[in-house]
Amino acid sequence: MKRILTGDRTTGKLHLGHYVGSLRQRVALQHDYDTFILLADVQALTTHFDNPELINSSILDVAIDNLSVGLDPEKVTIIQQSMIPSIAELTIFYSMITTVNHLLINPTIKSEARNYGFSSENAHDYDYDFSKLSYGFLGYPVSQTADITFCNADLVPVGEDQVPHIELSRKIVRKFNALYGTEITEPDYKLSSVSRLCGLDGNAKMGKSLGNAIYLSDTKEDVEKKVRSAVTDTNRVSVKIPGNPDVCTVYQYHKAFNEAESGNICSMCKNAQIGCVACKKMLASALNAVLDPIREKRAYYESHISDVKDIIKSGTDKANRIGNENIRSIKEKMHVLI
Ligand code: TRP
Repeated sequence: MKRILTGDRTTGKLHLGHYVGSLRQRVALQHDYDTFILLADVQALTTHFDNPELINSSILDVAIDNLSVGLDPEKVTIIQQSMIPSIAELTIFYSMITTVNHLLINPTIKSEARNYGFSSENAHDYDYDFSKLSYGFLGYPVSQTADITFCNADLVPVGEDQVPHIELSRKIVRKFNALYGTEITEPDYKLSSVSRLCGLDGNAKMGKSLGNAIYLSDTKEDVEKKVRSAVTDTNRVSVKIPGNPDVCTVYQYHKAFNEAESGNICSMCKNAQIGCVACKKMLASALNAVLDPIREKRAYYESHISDVKDIIKSGTDKANRIGNENIRSIKEKMHVLI
């Protein structure tokens, strides 16, 4: 069986953007691949180093998010990143052969730097404010390469924003193998069918840091309230005028979560046969239909926290057995053993 590795930063609970971008696909692939899920608590530090309490509580939250969408703990290996020394060691080795330029031109790093306030209007060469941008943040695609390759994963199911990282991973691995004669697997990525979900406010991306997200752990009422406030076609000032679904946030969600009704909704909107209020009600109930079984599983795991901890511990032990063996053979090839 080929191996998958993917993961999430532990900086808060996961939302519908994660669900369509990656989680939904993980669940489907778990039967055909040896699936490794990384709780990326070290990568979380790149932006949340001043909030260790949040990172700590998010380790369990993110594990529960993954389990409640339907990942089977008997099948998948759930791993706590900070507990895997071989990832840290590989990160250092890879950092020696990765140029700063490759990191600076990465479009995802650029846009995240903007979101987190690490860029500045008056910086000259790049958009970055180098007095705010940390070495660790800039270099996280390097440590992500270590995440993927410590266990020789073949495939990384991801949303669109992660593609530049995997492309860099491939370059790093190729260069490393050529230099040292190692046989580290060059990972491939697999995009989800809906790989990006816009925020409820119409922002291009749903993001924890952007405050425009519906969480997998939101209640039915939370979902109804958030959907009511979503941005639609702003030109449609009255129910009587036809709408344009292509520019409507709510319609993007219908396409992602309510395939059965979305064609009909599209034509009714274009012909002014349905108003935004009714359309939003339909969306809220479609989202709640997706979230209900997830809520049920969450309730189970939340009342069995020690089981969740055991799942993480045994997954981490298994990953360490694999990683320790691999890092030893890598060091041999690098001639660092005496
Ligand atoms: N950077 C990913 C995100 O923000 C999380 C992540 C960490 C990851 N390590 C990974 C994803 C390895 C895929 C593979 O969502």
